[in-house]
Amino acid sequence: MWITLPEYLKKINEDSKKYFSINENILEVNEEIIPIDFNKIFDNNDKLLKFEIGFGNCESLIKLALKYPEINYFGIDRKMDRIRTALSKLNKRKKIHNLTIARLGTDYLGKIINPSTFDEIIMNFPDPWPKKKHHKNRTLCTEFLIVLNNMLKKDGYFRFSSDHEEYSMEVLSLFENSELFRNAYDCSLKNEINDRIETQFERHKKREGFKIYHLKFQKI
Ligand SMILES: C[S@@+](CC[C@H](N)C(=O)[O-])C[C@H]1O[C@@H](n2cnc3c(N)ncnc32)[C@H](O)[C@@H]1O
Repeated sequence: MWITLPEYLKKINEDSKKYFSINENILEVNEEIIPIDFNKIFDNNDKLLKFEIGFGNCESLIKLALKYPEINYFGIDRKMDRIRTALSKLNKRKKIHNLTIARLGTDYLGKIINPSTFDEIIMNFPDPWPKKKHHKNRTLCTEFLIVLNNMLKKDGYFRFSSDHEEYSMEVLSLFENSELFRNAYDCSLKNEINDRIETQFERHKKREGFKIYHLKFQKI
């Protein structure tokens, strides 16, 4: 990363400052609160804690939090327009006590999140960067598997969904060749999952006729 963590936090918080006081579901991630203590964020910290990276318009994360009040959810997205969209949805309702979102990218997660924090990490339709010369921008790579593994509790799960076949196969092979995870399905991947809350992106892609690839791995 070409900027330091304090510079990074200052940069990502600049545009979001005005929102911190008007919505209780958004967290300002600054130097004083890192590594984040989720016991201070959620009232009932005996609950399972799940983490979504890149929630997009936040529709499915909000639905998940409402459907499963017995689970705490933390979601991040690095783009300010996604945060605004999420907040416009959240501002229309009372505080959702088991949901916290933050404007954050994946760059410094290893420093912002304590080891063994999450029961599950979810990535729905991460940008596939389809051109070969852009593959280096993909979030999921060998180094990021180590970050994911560290953030997960013992036996925790990582879930990935995508419409992009080549990226999905790359991710499958990355995890299957890693000593940090094992495949949690009895098959390599699934194209359908019962009772799944679809994301906005997923709905659009299905409508366009794309096959969806769902992967699930467990921390070893
Ligand atoms: C293709 S969209 C999918 C959004 C949503 N998950 C869905 O399925 O509808 C990818 C999202 O990931 C976010 N994103 C991409 N890279 C990210 C990163 N490194 N850290 C956090 N968010 C990221 C983007 O801002 C965007 O909202």
